[in-house]
Amino acid sequence: MSKPDVLIDAATIAQRVRELGTAIEHDYADKDLVLVSVLTGAFVFTADLARAVNLPLSVDFLGVSSYSDSKRSSGVVRITHDLSRTIEDKDVLLVEDIVDTGLTLQFILDTFQARSPRSVKLAALLHKPARTQVHVPIDYLGFTIDDVFVVGYGLDHAQRHRNLPYVGVLQPERGQP
Ligand code: IMP
Ligand code: MG
Repeated sequence: MSKPDVLIDAATIAQRVRELGTAIEHDYADKDLVLVSVLTGAFVFTADLARAVNLPLSVDFLGVSSYSDSKRSSGVVRITHDLSRTIEDKDVLLVEDIVDTGLTLQFILDTFQARSPRSVKLAALLHKPARTQVHVPIDYLGFTIDDVFVVGYGLDHAQRHRNLPYVGVLQPERGQP
């Protein structure tokens, strides 16, 4: 298997994450911040972002499944791992790897409304506006990208490539010799 081509290199990601961390630090200085990391793709972004925010905060994880092992959205979202603590009266910052159709986040935002958080905002590393089906406002955005399927820095294709330190694009499969 050949290595994915670099789309956004590690240094560029690190610089942007520092900028987002500074903005979050400024906005949440007197709040009760909980980072809710959307599993599995956001685990790398969450780890870096959490360390870029110099505030007391807590971290929790929400597992959702909207994709099988294919590259296409099913539009069907289900919770595979729920939060371990209540978000009532908390200032929730959802941390996502990528907003593609927006269906996953729409589902999460709807679900969270019933749990009475004090506020809910969204941080996403990547946004693919070409594929939007439902509009969800992104409060802290890393990068806008074209309609390409990306892997690395937490994102996978068929569970592979999550550990790449950069965001890359898979090269087309070569035919058998
Ligand atoms: P949405 O519901 O279509 O916005 O899709 C959200 C989820 O699909 C993301 O959190 C990712 O896990 C996955 N996804 C969407 N686009 C890509 C991609 O280009 N590479 C890897 N995963 C993706
Ligand atoms: Mg995801």
